[in-house]
Amino acid sequence: MANKRIDAPTGTATVGHEWDGIEELDTPLPRWWLWTFYLTILFAIGYVIAYPAIPMLHRGTVGMLGWSSRGALAKDMSAADMARQSSLERIAATDLDKLPANPDLLRQAVAGGSAAFKVNCVQCHGSGAAGSKGYPNLNDDDWLWGGDLKSIHTTLEHGIRQPGDDATRQSMMPGFEGMLDAGQMDAVAQHVLSLSRKAKPSPQGGQLFAQNCAACHGASGEGNRTLGAPRLNDAIWLYGGTKEDIVRQMIRPRMGVMPAWGGRLDPVTIKMLAAYVHSLGGGEQTPAMATVTSAEVGKVQAAPAGADTPAQTPNARK
Ligand code: HEC
Ligand code: HEC
Repeated sequence: MANKRIDAPTGTATVGHEWDGIEELDTPLPRWWLWTFYLTILFAIGYVIAYPAIPMLHRGTVGMLGWSSRGALAKDMSAADMARQSSLERIAATDLDKLPANPDLLRQAVAGGSAAFKVNCVQCHGSGAAGSKGYPNLNDDDWLWGGDLKSIHTTLEHGIRQPGDDATRQSMMPGFEGMLDAGQMDAVAQHVLSLSRKAKPSPQGGQLFAQNCAACHGASGEGNRTLGAPRLNDAIWLYGGTKEDIVRQMIRPRMGVMPAWGGRLDPVTIKMLAAYVHSLGGGEQTPAMATVTSAEVGKVQAAPAGADTPAQTPNARK
């Protein structure tokens, strides 16, 4: 450091090196820069003390604040959980028929119902609830048992033809084998098809229909939701719309079964499912018909002339 000297024009000391007459000035770092630098060092020390920082053999240092990313996540999750919980509580506390008056709550109920549907219902009704043979489409406005919120809720709560549930949707279409011969069945089937203009009318079939079928399906095939008797004049078929399908149903009625969800899912979930199914597009405003007990249904079922209900278990399906 022999040639250290003060540089005359700047008044700054030189470092002492010299290359071909070029010297380096020893300009001090600006004060603001130095202070910022010291502050970052202080901050780093503080950070290392407060937060998890230095990796050790098994786990890093924990930090005095006890913060961890897992802990932060758990806290966020429990906040979200609480929000969900409170909306569940609000749905639970709201009468089913009051839900539509609260669009915000209804939206949450429909979302919750949609999630529950994916878990519990898609295996039978399909992921879009469009159904398949024997499993009704829940998107259309063709309802076996009723499409208003309350009716849907009852269907879900008590199921359809569920043994052991007193309030289950109950009805039986009698089998007509032995009651009607093959020719008569053919004529009735043709009449049924003519109701949706899929075949020419059959006078004989019309008469037999009036005697044997109208009590449940209605004089013009308009159906009866109290009995879960499908509309036959709308060309929407649960079990197929060919003559053979209809004859097969007369010989051996299927009697679709759906579990009673009341014992399997909690009340809020069932409420949300009802809201979801109702929202699918075919939802109706008011109950078309009061729900009836199975005893009342029994009376109607005895009605058709000569149609003794054959010994059949309610859930016998083909
Ligand atoms: C094991 C199969 C199965 C499962 C699972 C199932 N369903 Fe059903 N569901 C049926 C059948 C079969 C019918 C038609 C019964 C009949 O013929 O009346 C039906 C009918 C219905 C109806 C009445 C439709 C109408 O037109 O009135 C609704 C509503 C319904 N299901 C909703 C649901 C919901 C919501 C779930 C899930 C919680 C569900 N179902 C799960 C088989 C099932
Ligand atoms: C006691 C009431 C009752 C009587 C009487 C009755 N049905 Fe039914 N019918 C039902 C019910 C309930 C169903 C739905 C069965 C199911 O969901 O499995 C049904 C279903 C059907 C279906 C299937 C509809 C579809 O969408 O696939 C046809 C077809 C049918 N009935 C025709 C007849 C004919 C024809 C007669 C007269 C010969 C008749 N039914 C008499 C109650 C009745």
